[in-house]
Amino acid sequence: MKILGINGSPRRGGNTDILLDKALKAAGDSGWETDKIILNLLNISAPQEDEYYTVNKDGLSPIEDDMHIIYKKVKDCDAIIIASPIFFGSLSAQAKIMIDRFQCAWVSKNILKKDVFKKKKSGAFICTSAARRKDFFQNAKAIVRNLFQVINTTYTGELFCPGLDKKGEVKKYPEFLESAYSLGQKITRKTD
Ligand SMILES: Cc1cc2nc3c(=O)[nH]c(=O)nc-3n(C[C@H](O)[C@H](O)[C@H](O)COP(=O)(O)O)c2cc1C
Repeated sequence: MKILGINGSPRRGGNTDILLDKALKAAGDSGWETDKIILNLLNISAPQEDEYYTVNKDGLSPIEDDMHIIYKKVKDCDAIIIASPIFFGSLSAQAKIMIDRFQCAWVSKNILKKDVFKKKKSGAFICTSAARRKDFFQNAKAIVRNLFQVINTTYTGELFCPGLDKKGEVKKYPEFLESAYSLGQKITRKTD
């Protein structure tokens, strides 16, 4: 069984990265194969208008960039964790652009009646923020839930960690680290 973690934070070793690693560690401890994508290291263009209803022969985005690495990994995995900090009240731009590029999945499924990401998966969401605004987490969650619906992924769990700003500050909060580990255990149990 394979789990894919996708980190939308540009800060390597930052709060989101640390929490995602904890969750993936739990999955690895349960015998799962783990994989992590750092979106900021990939070359991913924002969607272009001309691909709105246009998909390539595989039902994927016609833009040839690193999104195709992500499509392949998302197709293959059994569980997925999206992790992002809150930026301006929602997901990071890196995470949002990646999610927007799944428009091809929506088009394929709903217009062409071809379900490109048909494999059923469990999904979870990890989100960090400096403030304690529940509405910001809800904004981000709504977008992730939308993505999960399009790629046949059941929203299995979430971890929202407010009050974090400095790099690596989450290490001072063992309860957040334990919750991330528990989330990794939960998502892998759910798919068994
Ligand atoms: C561009 C930018 C925008 C941000 N916007 C918000 C925000 O709207 N609300 C908030 O609570 N925190 C905001 N933050 C703070 C981050 O969410 C916070 O520092 C988080 O812990 C960063 O996680 P990371 O270390 O994984 O990058 C922002 C940070 C940046 C860099």
